[in-house]
Amino acid sequence: MPGLTIGDIIPNLEVETTKGKFKIHDFIGENWILLFSHPGDFTPVCTTELGMMAKYSKQFIEKGVKLLGLSCDDLTSHMEWIKDIESNNGGHKVDYPIIGDSKREIIKQLNMVDPDEKDGKGNNMPSRALHIIGPDKKIKLSFLYPATTGRNMDEVLRVVESLQKARKYNNKVATPVNWNPGEKVVIAPSVTDEDARKMFPQGFQTVDLPSNKKYLRYAQV
Ligand code: BEZ
Repeated sequence: MPGLTIGDIIPNLEVETTKGKFKIHDFIGENWILLFSHPGDFTPVCTTELGMMAKYSKQFIEKGVKLLGLSCDDLTSHMEWIKDIESNNGGHKVDYPIIGDSKREIIKQLNMVDPDEKDGKGNNMPSRALHIIGPDKKIKLSFLYPATTGRNMDEVLRVVESLQKARKYNNKVATPVNWNPGEKVVIAPSVTDEDARKMFPQGFQTVDLPSNKKYLRYAQV
């Protein structure tokens, strides 16, 4: 199956999770979703990642973002492992569902198989994939990390804020390199100066460039 990419609708699979059985689209509802896979329960990097997700969960919920984990371990394993995660992260509760995919059907359908990682029985393991899905059920941004590199939750939070900022302005603004919330955005090339003056009555700044082209415009929004 070809990989899921930006703009694709996430398949509406029925999943069994630590918080019950549901269809992914029903879980999304009107929210944003972080759907993230991890190689396996009771492994060191994954324990730190899912623990940090639990710690950041409140910040994501405040932004209308729900979390949904996934690995090929079964639900009994997830429930046992959650006790380890919570004892190692200062007691932050794993309040988000984790999908159990012991038949490895979901990771194949969602293209989350890591070809380089096998468990003790030679079975494929999931990569550290993370899809940010919008309320329209479409993938807005994806991370794909190998088993040996843990993800950075500050970066996940930062890109959620970037995506939501762009959406609020109908993709007429974008966030430049190393942008952080509260900093100036840039105005999309599709916006004329005339329209920019209407969109940003507080004004915007155009950078003088050798080409004399006026495409680098900053605004505080
Ligand atoms: C880990 O989560 O620590 C891990 C999992 C699979 C391979 C390597 C590391």
